[in-house]
Amino acid sequence: MNKVILTGDRPTGKLHLGHYVGSLQNRVKMQEDPDTHIYVMIADQQALTDNAKTPEKVQQNLLEVALDYLAVGLDPERSTILIQSQIPQLPELTMYYLNLVTMARLNRNPTVKSEIQEKGFNESIPAGFFMYPVSQAADITAFKATHVPVGEDQRPMLEQTREIARDFNRTYHTEALVEPDIILPPKGHGRLVGIDGKGKMSKSLNNGIYLSDSADEIQKKVMSMYTDPNHIRVEDPGQIEGNVVFTYLDVFDDDKEKVQKLKDHYQKGGLGDVKIKRYLNEVLQAKLQPIRERREEFAKDREAVRTMLKAGSEKAERVAAQTLDEVKAAMGINYF
Ligand code: TRP
Repeated sequence: MNKVILTGDRPTGKLHLGHYVGSLQNRVKMQEDPDTHIYVMIADQQALTDNAKTPEKVQQNLLEVALDYLAVGLDPERSTILIQSQIPQLPELTMYYLNLVTMARLNRNPTVKSEIQEKGFNESIPAGFFMYPVSQAADITAFKATHVPVGEDQRPMLEQTREIARDFNRTYHTEALVEPDIILPPKGHGRLVGIDGKGKMSKSLNNGIYLSDSADEIQKKVMSMYTDPNHIRVEDPGQIEGNVVFTYLDVFDDDKEKVQKLKDHYQKGGLGDVKIKRYLNEVLQAKLQPIRERREEFAKDREAVRTMLKAGSEKAERVAAQTLDEVKAAMGINYF
C-alpha cells in the first residue's frame, strides 16, 4: 500500500451537500485506487470536546453519519470505517504527544482560535477542546497516514501534526511516526456555499441540503434559494455571480453546454428564477435520489451498520496498537 489516507468527520449532524462536494465524493474515488487504503474516522471523541453536556447529540448522529457514508458508496470491504472513541490507543498517544506541545503553540492554532470565537467559549474553553489538535495528531499518526485530505480550514491541524511527528521522531531517535502530507481540494472546489448565499453550507447557519433530505425538502430548499435580488421581472437581465442556483448548476450539472446556454439567457434577460430553480431541482433530485434510496436501504438494518462499525474499529485498533508499541519502545517505556 503506497498511500494511507486518513479522513474523518465529527458526528454533530447529518452530512450535507457541502460534505459531499468537499470530501465524500473524493473519498469514494480514492477508494477505487488499489494502491490506497482509506481510514474514515467518525470523530465522536472530538465532537465531545464541545458537547460534553449533550453526549446524546453525538451518539444520535454517529449512526446517521455512518449511513451517509454507506449511502454515497463508501465500502467497508475496501475502506476502514471506524469510531474514534473505540480506539483506546488514540488518547494514549495523545498523552505522550501533549508533552511535546506548548500551551503557547496551542494558543496560536488559527483553527482553534476561530472556533473558540464561533462557539463563544470566552474564558471557559474546555481543556479537551483546547488540545484537540494534539488528539487529531494521534488520529493521523496512529494509522501512519501518508496523506490527509482536508479543507483549507484544517491546514493548521495538519501543520501541527507534522510538527509533532517530526519532534517525536527527533526526540526519541525513531522513524515510528509518519509526517503526513496535506491534500487540499483543487481551486474552486472548496466548500460549497449554502442555499442562502451568505456563507459556506453548515448546520449552524441552517442553510444546508442534506443527503437524507426527502424529495419535497430538497425542492422546497431549491425554490427558496438565493439568486439575484435585483432580478425582479423575467425580462430583466440577471446576474450569475453570487447566484446560488448557477453556482450549484456549475457543481452538479454534467451538461455544461446547457448550463452555459442558461447563463447566457439569464444574463440577457427573459429567463425567470422559477425556471432555473425548477431545472436545478431536477438536477439535484437525479443526483440525490439514488443516494437517499441506498441510505434508506441501509437504515432498515441498523444492527448491521453497528456490526460494520465494530469490525472497522477493531481492525483500526490493531493498527493503532502496533504504532503505540513502537512509540513506547522508542520512548523506552515498554517495561514488560
Ligand atoms: N477535525 C475534523 C473536522 O472537524 C475531523 C477529524 C478528526 C479529522 N480527526 C481527523 C479529519 C483526522 C482529518 C484527520 O472536520
